[in-house]
Amino acid sequence: MKIGILISGRGSNMVALVDAIKSGEIPHSEVAVVISDKASAGLEKAKERGVETLVIQRSGRTREEHDAEIANALRKRDVELVCLAGYMRLLSKDFIHAFENRIVNIHPSLLPAFPGLDAQRQALEHGVKITGCTVHYVNEHLDAGPIILQKAVEVRDDDTVEILSARILEQEHKAYVEAVRRIAS
Ligand code: GAR
Repeated sequence: MKIGILISGRGSNMVALVDAIKSGEIPHSEVAVVISDKASAGLEKAKERGVETLVIQRSGRTREEHDAEIANALRKRDVELVCLAGYMRLLSKDFIHAFENRIVNIHPSLLPAFPGLDAQRQALEHGVKITGCTVHYVNEHLDAGPIILQKAVEVRDDDTVEILSARILEQEHKAYVEAVRRIAS
């Protein structure tokens, strides 16, 4: 299974996937390309791991034009599964339809609670006692496609956004690897 990973920043979920593929934990798979919408720390980590990287900037274009260039780059490499890993842009309908049921995302809450930005802050402000992360298929609605798997994380009384986010992130790495392993096998 050829995988394309889209990132925007740190790329720790991308690293978890690349490393799990290299170690054989995710079978029958290869990361064909990591694409970022800007120069990012994550791209450097992908390069260090010998994975092809591309920067495809939005740069004054419409979302549709930007996404069309990304879709072309993925198709050129015969990508079958697109993993969003901290990719902080909304995708156009055309892109979602071009890769129907073949785009997955990781989100740092137990969806459908706390979609959108700052999910960990939303959870703290709401005062929930349990939050977590969700791996789901991407459809036309924000953070709303069919859920593949979730992991729960307890919220502690003295949590800050940073501390809670770090604890959720540990579970994100496990959840994303497990979800892609299931899809690959
Ligand atoms: C992760 O916590 C991911 O769940 C979140 O951004 C972070 C990216 O970290 N994504 C979203 O909030 C998407 N709505 P990473 O770059 O280290 O993988």
